[in-house]
Amino acid sequence: MRIQITDSEIETLGKYIKEKSGIALDASKAYLFESRLSPILNELGCSNYLGLYSLCKRDFAGRLTTRLIDAMCTNETSFFRDKSPFLLLVQKLVPDFYEQNPYGTLNIWSAAASTGQEVYSSIMQLIDAGITPPRFKMRLIATDISDTAIAKASRGKYTKFELARGMEGAKLHKYFHPVGDDWVIKEEIRAMVTFKKINLLDPLQLTLLGKFDIIFCRNVAIYFSMEDKRKLFDALGTQLTPNGSLMIGSTESLLGVTDRFAKKEFRSMIYYQKT
Ligand SMILES: C[S@@+](CC[C@H](N)C(=O)[O-])C[C@H]1O[C@@H](n2cnc3c(N)ncnc32)[C@H](O)[C@@H]1O
Repeated sequence: MRIQITDSEIETLGKYIKEKSGIALDASKAYLFESRLSPILNELGCSNYLGLYSLCKRDFAGRLTTRLIDAMCTNETSFFRDKSPFLLLVQKLVPDFYEQNPYGTLNIWSAAASTGQEVYSSIMQLIDAGITPPRFKMRLIATDISDTAIAKASRGKYTKFELARGMEGAKLHKYFHPVGDDWVIKEEIRAMVTFKKINLLDPLQLTLLGKFDIIFCRNVAIYFSMEDKRKLFDALGTQLTPNGSLMIGSTESLLGVTDRFAKKEFRSMIYYQKT
């Protein structure tokens, strides 16, 4: 049963969600609260959203809050989304890195990785370009705040529908094997990535990840307030090595958000480096 949410409940719950994840939701998103949280309310026997809020506040282990955030995250993604970040990777950013550090370890971070398509697309693109370990040393990390998204990413199992969004037939057969109606990424690819649950707005969690030469942080800041966007990109600047590069979503811009980055262009493809 769908349970209607009031404006004051949106204000209370929205404030709590923003504080825990950065995701900014206002009254225009009432349908999102109702469609995503009604099943939880029904399951817990809550008749209204303030009941859910009180339960979250009383759950000191934080499991219900995790579930709440998980439900309110939009995990929309696809393989080779926007194409250009993956071309930039193999045509410019990775060759530049190994030219400057022939024996160095390349650190790549897919921040807000959702269900893993972004990080697996990077690996497939690198391997197809002949950039593979052990000749080229690399460390890949994929993180997301959503428990269910990051668990799915680390399983690497996708439906035909998910694969139809961006995955070419030749790559599918090269990098996946079928399991029933689904396809699973080959173990040697999966094993190249470390998956972690990380809140991008928690500076301590970011510091513990170390420094990165390439950061993908695409299509997550669109859900944040300007203040949290600024916090996020300033923190990413701290996590980036001096010559490191940042890639954001094709509809996103850092203009007016932070002056910590300079916009760079290579063959009409955009990325950012620290000023
Ligand atoms: C729309 S998806 C983008 C996925 C991928 N980067 C892409 O562009 O295809 C946004 C992801 O950001 C995650 N997210 C939202 N708030 C976050 C936060 N504070 N910290 C980390 N991840 C967050 C969501 O769980 C979701 O998986």
